[in-house]
Amino acid sequence: MNDKQFTTIFLGVMGVLTIIFFVIFFIAQIIVPETNVADEFTNNAVVSRIEPVGKLNYSDANEQEAKTTGNLVKVDLYKNGEEVYNAVCQSCHTSGILNSPKFGDKVAWKERLSKGKEKLYANAINGIGAMPAKGGRSDLPDNLIEMSVDYIIQSAE
Ligand code: HEC
Repeated sequence: MNDKQFTTIFLGVMGVLTIIFFVIFFIAQIIVPETNVADEFTNNAVVSRIEPVGKLNYSDANEQEAKTTGNLVKVDLYKNGEEVYNAVCQSCHTSGILNSPKFGDKVAWKERLSKGKEKLYANAINGIGAMPAKGGRSDLPDNLIEMSVDYIIQSAE
């Protein structure tokens, strides 16, 4: 067998294999239905099967004891001003973002305190200038915000 014959046979075999490939491919397309088109009903059933068994409800951090209502467990998020500060306020007040008075900055806080503590509480709760009400956590009860103000003030005494 010379090179030319070999090439002819080789290409012939490749051609036949390619045709077989396409034939099988199209047959597969016809007999296997599209699998990833699931209707809404199937999707909902899947979601309900894989959803978590319990859900945490953070809505009322004021509740002192953890209450179980159905499968919702109420938990206390923050116990004191320091925890609130670390979770909510520090994102701005540690570095003084948006010109917020910095944590531990005695001069800045002395100036703020000259308005009276009650005014600082009210401004932290309702928002002031670039600071959103309750630092953006409107779900937190007023007394937790006041505790975190106290914590900030103590740091600058
Ligand atoms: C998004 C950034 C941001 C967050 C979060 C934030 N603050 Fe502020 N805060 C500011 C800025 C800015 C000011 C200065 C506002 C001004 O004087 O115009 C400020 C000012 C204050 C003041 C002084 C108010 C006054 O009357 O002078 C207090 C008190 C305060 N923040 C407490 C808190 C507490 C407590 C939290 C967390 C619950 C908190 N802040 C979270 C940005 C923030």
